Formats: sequence, C-alpha cells, structure tokens
Amino acid sequence: MARKLPDRVAVYPGSFDPITNGHLDLIQRGSRLFDRLIVSILRNERKEPLFTVEERMDMLREVVHVYPNVEVDSFDGLLVEHAAAHSATALVRGIRAISDYEYELQMALMNRRLRPDIETVFMMANEAYSFISSRLVKEVFSLGGNISGLVPPSVEARMRSRFKSRSRGA
Ligand code: PNS
Repeated sequence: MARKLPDRVAVYPGSFDPITNGHLDLIQRGSRLFDRLIVSILRNERKEPLFTVEERMDMLREVVHVYPNVEVDSFDGLLVEHAAAHSATALVRGIRAISDYEYELQMALMNRRLRPDIETVFMMANEAYSFISSRLVKEVFSLGGNISGLVPPSVEARMRSRFKSRSRGA
C-alpha cells in the first residue's frame, strides 16, 4: 500500500503593501509546487505602510481565492517560527534582479541558521514583472502615473480611494 506523504507546506512572506502582479504570479506558480501555500504578511513592520495589515489581507484574499491551496495569514516576530508553527518546510521568495540576491541570500542564510529544517526556495520573477515593486507602484500612482497591469484591478481601485481620501485630508 502506498505510504501517504505529508503535505508540503510553504510560507510566502512579505509586506505586500500592496500586492502586485509580480507577487500574484509567484503565488500562482508557487501554488503548483506545494500542497499548501501560506501567504503571510509581516505585522511588526518598521516602515509606514499605505494599507493596514487587515486591508492587505483582504486585498490578498480577494485575488487568491481562485487558488484553493493558497491561504492568507499574518505574523509577528521570527518568520521561521511562524513557518514552523504551520509545519512549513519551505519559505518562498521571489528574485527579480541580481540586486535582490544579496539581501535575499543574507536572509536565507540567517533563516537556515535559525531553523536548518526550513529551506528557502527562490523563484525567478516573470520577466514581464521584474521591474515592479510595491514601493514603485505607490510612488508612480501618487504622482498620477498609470499603474494598470501592474497590480490587480481590485488593488488599483483600493489605491484610488486611499489616495483620494488622503488628498481630502481624511
Ligand atoms: O517583502 P519584504 O518587505 O521584503 O519582506 C521581508 C520579510 C517580511 C520577509 C522579512 O522582513 C522577515 O522575514 N521579517 C521577519 C523577521 C525575521 O524573521 N527576521 C529574520 C530573518 S533574516
């Protein structure tokens, strides 16, 4: 009788402020590699975010519901402890360009030192999205530039209303 293998669980961590089409592409491809993919938002972020963690979780849920094995979560503290608490054996990170590599390698080696049983899996970003970052999307949008095709339409709508309420001083 075939032995039932344990589920392969991975965590895809990040700020996702907001989720871009680059993130979404990685989620779609990652969902094919693992039995469960948990997209997890860091809570104790030092940067001033545009969207609250709850808003970012809502935005993520709106776009990942089409992938039945993808879940959305958030975490405080060490990423590897959050991953271990979910029995994850892998951390997924995207690499857009060689400039991402140094920081990502540093994090991957630190995480390996903390939890050698959790592997970091790097996925190359789709070349169509390799120039996109949440930071640039926010900057371009705040200066009136066109961001269609860079973020999901639902995220663009949320950004429009967020910047509108900001410009009204809300
Ligand atoms: O999308 P980002 O902002 O580059 O994500 C960075 C993130 C959330 C992956 C990283 O800051 C992180 O893992 N923070 C949790 C704290 C932690 O575990 N630090 C040690 C890892 S080197």
